[in-house]
Amino acid sequence: MNNLRHIAIIMDGNGRWAQARGLSRSEGHRAGSKQVEAVVDAAIAEGVEVLTLYAFSTENWNRPRLEVETLMKLFAEYARHSLDGLQRRGIRLRVVGRMDGLPMLPRMALNHAIEATQKNAVLTLNIALNYGGRAELVDAASKVVAARMKSGDSSPVTEEEFAAALYAPDLPPPDLLIRTGGELRISNFLLWELSYAEFYFTEVLWPDFGPAELHAAIEEFGSRQRRFGKV
Ligand code: IPE
Ligand code: IPE
Ligand code: MG
Repeated sequence: MNNLRHIAIIMDGNGRWAQARGLSRSEGHRAGSKQVEAVVDAAIAEGVEVLTLYAFSTENWNRPRLEVETLMKLFAEYARHSLDGLQRRGIRLRVVGRMDGLPMLPRMALNHAIEATQKNAVLTLNIALNYGGRAELVDAASKVVAARMKSGDSSPVTEEEFAAALYAPDLPPPDLLIRTGGELRISNFLLWELSYAEFYFTEVLWPDFGPAELHAAIEEFGSRQRRFGKV
């Protein structure tokens, strides 16, 4: 049986879910954010250690202003309203992405929840917010360059040194990537970390993705043969 420590999910399809019901895209995001709790609980029940959720990409700023504002409001609300539940269930909240690029409200609420939950150990809920895989790689490169300038070391950079400069070097890489909403692409998500992840794509739209769908993805993952370049 494959070891499953970390699941990463591209939560896609909120807009189409809303459109199919004659609702606004913002209402789709609201429905999508309501799904998070059930999926987090299901991940805990499945024994997963880390759940990374792609909530907002560095490219998503190019959406209509009202939609972006709704999303930022939802992130702040999530951080405030879910804090008690996170504590009760022993969930540690983390964020990967350029947090300093977020508006003050979500940034402060999220930082508060991150700090308050940092000792929890049942599951790490890692939200990718204002996250871009390319941004993460150039941010890591900048960190390595700055450290090298200080130390004067000019030996070749190793993979270990580079990996230590990524956003969450303490977390294991995703074993399983799930994308809801039917698109077959990774949209600038975890470019380094997904190197040996198993990919699972489903047509199910994010607001319809629940514990049963998560279980189906995990079953499929269990049947994959992971080789990591070996025979
Ligand atoms: C994913 O749903 C949520 C975010 C990207 C913030 P979308 O809003 O991309 O939904 P579709 O792809 O338009 O249906
Ligand atoms: C990926 O979805 C980003 C998130 C789910 C946060 P998008 O809807 O932004 O991706 P594209 O534009 O279809 O590639
Ligand atoms: Mg989309």
